[in-house]
Amino acid sequence: MEVAQVLHMNGGDSKSSYANHSLLQRAVISTVKPIVEASIEELCSNLFPECLKIADLGCSSGPNTLLVVSDIINNIQNTFRKLDRPPPSLQAFLNDLPRNDFNTVFRLLPGFYKKLNEEHENKGSYFIAAMPGSYYGRLFPDNSLHFVHSSYALMWISEVPKGLVTEGGEGLNKGNIYIAKTSTPAVFHEYFEQFKRDFTVFLRSRAQELVPGGSMVLTTMGSIKSNDPHCIWEFVGSKLYDMVLDGLIEEEKLDTFNLPYYAPTMDEVKEVIEAEGSFTLQNLEVFRNDWDSYIKQTNSSFDKKSRAAILSTDIRAVGEPILASHFGEETMDDLFRRFEEDVLDHMEKENCQFINLVISLTKKC
Ligand SMILES: C[S@@+](CC[C@H](N)C(=O)[O-])C[C@H]1O[C@@H](n2cnc3c(N)ncnc32)[C@H](O)[C@@H]1O
Repeated sequence: MEVAQVLHMNGGDSKSSYANHSLLQRAVISTVKPIVEASIEELCSNLFPECLKIADLGCSSGPNTLLVVSDIINNIQNTFRKLDRPPPSLQAFLNDLPRNDFNTVFRLLPGFYKKLNEEHENKGSYFIAAMPGSYYGRLFPDNSLHFVHSSYALMWISEVPKGLVTEGGEGLNKGNIYIAKTSTPAVFHEYFEQFKRDFTVFLRSRAQELVPGGSMVLTTMGSIKSNDPHCIWEFVGSKLYDMVLDGLIEEEKLDTFNLPYYAPTMDEVKEVIEAEGSFTLQNLEVFRNDWDSYIKQTNSSFDKKSRAAILSTDIRAVGEPILASHFGEETMDDLFRRFEEDVLDHMEKENCQFINLVISLTKKC
């Protein structure tokens, strides 16, 4: 499976599109806002470029994409106002894998520029461009970026660890699609090693692209304990297993599929940052949110069943393209109907939470 070919969120603005189902990610962006603000303020107090260049890595397509850019522009304006200096012009690069629905974002741009020009004094000095490609490699020229942002993207690793399928074609993680309670330590080891390789390449690439003193704020889904991820994909995997038992999916199909995903712990992140050596870790925090807290925030009148249905569709908007590429479009309705029932069941029995890590870094001078 070539991850770059199959990994993307549901595009467009249909019922199950990411654009209409990304309130969870929006809530996370808003939680992390003060950390982004602090990082930008620090950056703008030390660097005074004529044109500030920023990148949002794993931007996807939908309202969150431009929200991040707009928040960063506001931060820059406020900081320069406080410093009593004229704000610089700004170039923002929106990055995602080539299969991302960039067209939906482009269509929003004229309205976005209009709004910026109405809200800010330095009209016409914002330039937004797309940069398709994988952030597990170089995307920009040497010393060309000042600030890098990424939210809810880095848990997607560059490939499914090769060792998860033996040379004879046998799956090591049978019956699961990610590290689960029934996975062996070897499965965890394969995932962890892949994460370390990928995150090192990510840091090395950004270290070349950022100017000295440039900074990054990265938010990713994480775990509290190694080898104990309690991840929502485990539940999707268990529904696929039920479908194998019901004769709807071939067992071998499930046994040889794994997600290119890893939710690291704080210690694992710290270990890679220190070993790679290009960045000073300014801040590393973990925060949790209940599976349905973002839904309650937007509409407190939804009952648990409705919240389970919304969460299930939101997870579908993220996972459907990659799952459908392996298990077939025709299995998706059944899979996510079963998943929705499971979500409700879990929400009734336990306090289910997403674990998030936010990492703030500065490139060493
Ligand atoms: C859950 S979405 C998050 C989107 C957006 N940042 C937000 O907060 O709403 C994750 C995005 O990361 C992208 N992504 C995953 N791996 C990537 C890679 N190696 N390079 C660039 N983008 C990647 C996916 O295609 C997807 O659009």
